[in-house]
Amino acid sequence: MILSVVSAKGGVGKTTLTANLGILLSRAGIKVLMVDADLASGDLTQHLGGKGGSRGLHALLSSERVSEEEVNKTLTQVFGVSLLPVVPSLRGFLKAKLELFPSVLAPLKDQYDLLLIDTPPGLNKNSLVPLTESDKVLLVTTPDPVSVSDVSTSRDVAVLLEKNVMGVVINRVRRGFLFGSRQLRPREVTNILKLKGLGIIPEDKAVGESILSKKPVVLYRPRSPASKALRELAGRVREELS
Ligand SMILES: Nc1ncnc2c1ncn2[C@@H]1O[C@H](COP(=O)(O)OP(=O)(O)OP(=O)(O)O)[C@@H](O)[C@H]1O
Ligand SMILES: [Mg+2]
Repeated sequence: MILSVVSAKGGVGKTTLTANLGILLSRAGIKVLMVDADLASGDLTQHLGGKGGSRGLHALLSSERVSEEEVNKTLTQVFGVSLLPVVPSLRGFLKAKLELFPSVLAPLKDQYDLLLIDTPPGLNKNSLVPLTESDKVLLVTTPDPVSVSDVSTSRDVAVLLEKNVMGVVINRVRRGFLFGSRQLRPREVTNILKLKGLGIIPEDKAVGESILSKKPVVLYRPRSPASKALRELAGRVREELS
């Protein structure tokens, strides 16, 4: 099963969700491989401590032919979970042939229960190739109307590609009414998108701190409000996967 975490809008929390869901689903007994498919930034690898070794996805995508042995050698372990990392390199990014991405995933599909892919923002080849390879899609937005509008485009693209859209996660939800804020209510977001709401993750400063400490918030501050919401989300995602 390949599940992509997707939003056309940047900075809404795709990488944060992927890192934390990867850890939680793995601890729930699912054999998970997290895939850092943001070739330009390698943010997922960075969120997880930056332990990419010397080779990463770029090297696989710039080879002549992808071999299973090379793919397996590229995998690394972070917090007890497997990761296909990106080792940041501008040259590597420019040389990477995205058309090889399916051959990288092919041998891994049988080895893992779940390939959880962190995708880059935007609607371009870099984001569409991982989406095309996915079975299911988890959309992410903030309650901001611009973000919701952008994620509705992501939903439409996923539907056109005949992907199963699992639902939407609303991230960075602030409490109460904020004067001058254009935050939509979670119910409004799911109504606009006509999607199942899979989770509401609060705005929580522990998230920013956890990223600086290179440790996902569910491990860094397990009792924080964001961690609690992420555990509830992981429970719902597990139900959707079964
Ligand atoms: N629930 C939250 N509370 C507070 N800050 C958050 C929360 N979720 C994410 N952030 C902050 O938002 C920023 C962007 O998060 P993240 O990198 O996960 O988004 P992204 O969608 O992957 O971005 P990009 O599109 O650039 O890949 C991070 O700096 C993080 O600290
Ligand atoms: Mg990201």
